[in-house]
Amino acid sequence: MYNFDEIINRNGTNSVKWDSVTKKYNRNDLLPMWVADMDFKIAPEIADAVIERAKHMTYGYTFPGTEYINSIIRWNKKRHNFDVKKEWISVSPGVIPAIKAAIYGFSDVNDKILILTPVYTPFHNSVKEANRELITSSLIFDGEKYNIDFDDFEQKIKYGVKLFIMSNPHNPIGRVWSKEELSKIADICFNNNVVVLSDEIHSDIIYKNKKHTVFNTVSENARNISIVCQAPSKTFNIAGLCTSHIIIESEKVRKQMQKSMSSIGIELVNIFGIVACEAAYTYGEQWVDEMVEYVEGNADFVCKYIKEKLPLVKTYKPESTYLMWLDFRLYNLKQEELMEKLVNEGKVVLNSGTDYGTEGVGFIRLNIGCPRSIVKECIDRIEKAFNKK
Ligand SMILES: Cc1ncc(COP(=O)(O)O)c(C=O)c1O
Repeated sequence: MYNFDEIINRNGTNSVKWDSVTKKYNRNDLLPMWVADMDFKIAPEIADAVIERAKHMTYGYTFPGTEYINSIIRWNKKRHNFDVKKEWISVSPGVIPAIKAAIYGFSDVNDKILILTPVYTPFHNSVKEANRELITSSLIFDGEKYNIDFDDFEQKIKYGVKLFIMSNPHNPIGRVWSKEELSKIADICFNNNVVVLSDEIHSDIIYKNKKHTVFNTVSENARNISIVCQAPSKTFNIAGLCTSHIIIESEKVRKQMQKSMSSIGIELVNIFGIVACEAAYTYGEQWVDEMVEYVEGNADFVCKYIKEKLPLVKTYKPESTYLMWLDFRLYNLKQEELMEKLVNEGKVVLNSGTDYGTEGVGFIRLNIGCPRSIVKECIDRIEKAFNKK
């Protein structure tokens, strides 16, 4: 049994989540519940492997070795029933760099790229920064669940879109897309010559009774057009080691992607990242299973608390990720007022819903990848700020 209740002081470690908040607001009374990393200690087996490698005291250029590649293949077979061949795998310092490579490799300036909004901010920025036209299809929210508006999606795909970038599962709204939904996407995109980048960085954090489907596995059409991005970074809390891998079955798509990755210089690997990834995929199953169960417990805790004590805030239990999506629209606050109130009265820092698209007005994203006592402290603070007489 791993201890996810343990509080780790991350202040003073140049942590983006903790230290940049202190720097930005120039105060140290704020609780950071924003950027997507977790406050848990990593699995000790990963630390052991990294320390062992560090002791060798030669840190030169490194290539992805057979054991590392095999660990990715084994993990995919065991956890996702996805049969991966070694030649399908490329390495990247991160999923975001790979997304940028896909944008450069599969579209030209002013070409259209589609995303489903609200979605992870760098999807928006990466497209815009590359001077491509960002096309968005809004997910439909029924108050409990977000769904894809397939009529809108298909219509937009048909009008010259070159690349579709999706979050599978979806950050920030926590959906695990079903095989049926993914098959429909694959058919529409295949029929319109659109390449699909399926960002599956959250795919190992799946709640009970839900199952992740790797986009590549849904159909022949999917196999011909898909770029699957995976990483141990979110799952094992090792984002600082900057290591991810890209799986592409289609030789044509793979060659084009690899050319683009090479042209922007991202084919090198981090020596400690690959050691950590191999250890994670080899020894980390138990840690992940316990971590996911703990985080799901946090989600249940937040849902119950909010229902009982903050009835004007609406939320639902996500199907995956350690991120929750909270709806404050009944307070009728402007987004800046909502964020200011959270910081100044609640003393908590969360992500604004508008970071993910205009659909996020009135929403915030809460990171529950931390000890339950911190989650409780955060919602106690929100409760005090919003229930003030
Ligand atoms: C959907 C999604 N993709 C990618 C990333 C970041 O990937 P990387 O750190 O590998 O660039 C995140 C981080 O929160 C994410 O949520």
